This record gives sequence, structure tokens and C-alpha cells, in this order.
Amino acid sequence: MIYRLLKQNIALFFIAAISVSANEKKPIAIGPYLQNVTSKSAVVCWATFAGQSTLTYPDGKIQKFNEYEHHEMLLDGLQENTTYEYDVLGDGSAAGKGKVTTFPKKIEPFQFVVLGDTRSRHDIHKRNIERIMAENPLFVVNTGDLVGNGRRIQDWDKFFELNNELMRNIPYFPVLGNHEKDSKFYFEFFNLPGNERYYSFNVGDALFLFLDTEGEDYQTPQYLKTEESREYYWNNHNLKYFEEQKAWVEHQLTINKDAGFVFVFFHQPLFSVKKTRVEDAKLRRKFWGDIFERHGVQVVLNGHDHHYHRAFNGGTHYITTAGGGAGLYEPDTPQPETKKISKIEHIVKVEVGPAQAHLTAIDINGNIIEKIHVDKK
Ligand SMILES: [Fe+2]
Repeated sequence: MIYRLLKQNIALFFIAAISVSANEKKPIAIGPYLQNVTSKSAVVCWATFAGQSTLTYPDGKIQKFNEYEHHEMLLDGLQENTTYEYDVLGDGSAAGKGKVTTFPKKIEPFQFVVLGDTRSRHDIHKRNIERIMAENPLFVVNTGDLVGNGRRIQDWDKFFELNNELMRNIPYFPVLGNHEKDSKFYFEFFNLPGNERYYSFNVGDALFLFLDTEGEDYQTPQYLKTEESREYYWNNHNLKYFEEQKAWVEHQLTINKDAGFVFVFFHQPLFSVKKTRVEDAKLRRKFWGDIFERHGVQVVLNGHDHHYHRAFNGGTHYITTAGGGAGLYEPDTPQPETKKISKIEHIVKVEVGPAQAHLTAIDINGNIIEKIHVDKK
């Protein structure tokens, strides 16, 4: 009897202990991770579990789908170019801790890293993440196709698991790829400037523009997927949205005409060396015209074609960096503007200095694919 009472009391004690800790704070399921860092503010995001759905297959296999509650904390009134420590749990445990370094306002040397198409082959993605962390850049840009299917929550679970340590301390700026599928998960997880589809920010006297090549309805209708209908598709699909975006780009480049460096990022490139995509790239070029060259943009960085490619036209470098993880494509159709091709997984490190910016494409083994520099305007 005494033993039974004791056992009940122990059980009650454990139930009470569990409910107290659950009331205190839910455990972090994703993050914390840095978003929307500026010279005076930052947003720390994280997610806690909100539930789990399951699908049971005829053979008894169970697939789980996590649901999350998203949390954001705006850190405002910060000093420029300064490192702060944050703790979203406030309990001193490592799970809620990270560091944020605000962007410099003045012209200071800094570096950022670009990678793209991280969607599959998680081992490759992981090695690229480790290399980026060793470089300790001010921020990271992903040129789109972050995940295989933006509408599958499991893909985002994996993306944030792989990037946990990196995104805790280094802000991550993505653009939408076709594989994001205009998913609500993308907009829930990321907290980006402006309308989040296309946006800009400045660091020192460098301007960064992030564009959307996918549009609000990303899917090409099946009946428009033939050779002959490509032009029709470009002239009709979402044209208003793209025209508005183009006017916004023109405006941004005009009001920032004194920027020393301009870097532009979007997913689908203007120069493709993949045979089946050369014509599509030409249609995109026709749409954007000479806008980047006319405004003296030094570098445009894209993804989508899974290799490294650099074209040079009208004073602007067009770099395709899509070696983040997805299976490689054969760069089989060099263009007259092609300067460098490499079929290997890689990242691009950009060091911005007072007079020049140095870009280094580094392959998965740590070898340099090429190193170029651009002069300040
Ligand atoms: Fe893509």
C-alpha cells in the first residue's frame, strides 16, 4: 500500500514537472535563424512544433508531416557593424543562442558568399555549408531552388536542419526558384525586405538587388510548353507582374546611381549553356534588355543551370552559380559571351574592398575554379 502511494506520487510529480516545463517555453524545432539584417536591426526567427499529421501506407509505413508555429523577434536600435549575442529562450541554454553582426553603414571591407540550387544531395549541400561557415561571411545568398519541392514541409525540415548552425549566426537571403513552387512555406519561414518576392538592401556603398524570375503563378501551363509557344508564354504570362518588377529595378538602379558596387541576384539566368535552355535564356534577355549593363551593374548572379558559368557582356559579368547540391548539368552549348565553364559543385565568395570586389569560385574540394575582380564604379 505504501509502495503503491509512493509510486502514484512519483508519477504525479513527473506529470507536474512536465507540464511546468511545457508552460515555460516550447522547445525550438527550427532555428533560431537570422533574417533581414541591416545596419541597425535584425530579425531572429524560430519555429516550435504545432502538431503532426501522418499518412499510413498499405504496408504500414508511416509518413509524418510537421506543422510549425513561427516566431519572430525584431532587434532594433542596434549599432552598425557590431556583434551582439541573442538568446531567444532566455534560459542560457545553447538551443536558443546565436550571434548577429549588423551591416556596416560606412565603406568597410566585407565578404559575402553565394550558392544556388541546394535542393538535393544533402551531403554536397552540407559540405558547401561547412566551407561557407569557415569563410564566416557577413551574409549568404541562395540563387533559388533551395529545396526540391517548396510545398513539401519535409524538404524545409531538412533545409533548416542542415543550415542550423550557419543560419543561427549568418543572415541568409534567398530568391525564389521554380522548385520553391511559390509555396506559402517559403513566405512563412523567411522574413525578407520589401514585398519579399523582389527586394533590395545596401551595405556600405554596395547595392544588392534580389529579383523573382518565377512569378506569382510559377507553373507553365502544359499546352504552352512547346517550342513555338515559348514566345507567346513570355509575352502573356504574368507580364504585368514582370513589367512592374522591371520598373522597380529601373527605379532602384536610378536612385542608387552613386552606389560603388551593384550585385543582382535572380534564379533563371540570362545566358544558358545548357542546350535545351539556350532559347529560354534569350527570351529572358529580350525582356530585361540592357537594363543591367546600362546602369553599370558589375555582377548578376543566377542559379537554375547546375554548374558554374560566367558570361561577360556590355561590362557586366553574368555568373550562374548552381552547384549547391542538385545533380550537375552538362554545359554543352557555350555562348559567344561565355568566359568560363566548370561542371562541378561550388560556391562563390565575394570580397568587397574599397576600390575592387574580388569574386572567387571555389569547388567542393576547395580548389579555385576562377578568380575575377570588378572595379568600383
Ligand atoms: Fe531551377
